[in-house]
Amino acid sequence: MAKNLLLTDKYIVIGRDFEHGGEASSKIKNELKRLGISSDIIRNISIASYEAEMNIIIYAKDGTMTLEVYSNKIKIIAEDIGPGISDIELAMKEGYSTAPPEVIEMGFGAGMGLPNIKKNSDTFRIDSVIGKGTKLIFEVNLR
Ligand SMILES: Nc1ncnc2c1ncn2[C@@H]1O[C@H](COP(=O)(O)OP(=O)(O)O)[C@@H](O)[C@H]1O
Ligand SMILES: [Mg+2]
Repeated sequence: MAKNLLLTDKYIVIGRDFEHGGEASSKIKNELKRLGISSDIIRNISIASYEAEMNIIIYAKDGTMTLEVYSNKIKIIAEDIGPGISDIELAMKEGYSTAPPEVIEMGFGAGMGLPNIKKNSDTFRIDSVIGKGTKLIFEVNLR
């Protein structure tokens, strides 16, 4: 697959840094626009990468978002150092959230992030180790 890799970019995301929340996904969006990727694919990636980025900011210590553009797909790897997710099946349920009150007050914590990442991607994978961190890999096919 690596032979089809056209472009890669990596962005740092800092836990609790709400001030810069959304910047990494916005940079990813701009990069895809610059490449002339179609708007529906950009929308899928933007929604999914924003949710992944905000989850790092809300729940993790820090992390990175990696964009990989292939000839046939867009891949995002969102990886963090953080508490990890103990029950992935539960975390994937619509409406499930452990967001603390001050985060809910900011308008987050609807429990739709992970389900929406899955909905907006063609392939979705989540790996998490308790006390270590979480890694999401999702892809949107170019058609
Ligand atoms: N990167 C992460 N690190 C640790 N826990 C996470 C992470 N992302 C999601 N979670 C857990 O999964 C739950 C569901 O996430 P999500 O669907 O995005 O909803 P929300 O962010 O609104 O709570 C979160 O409330 C949290 O408990
Ligand atoms: Mg979320």
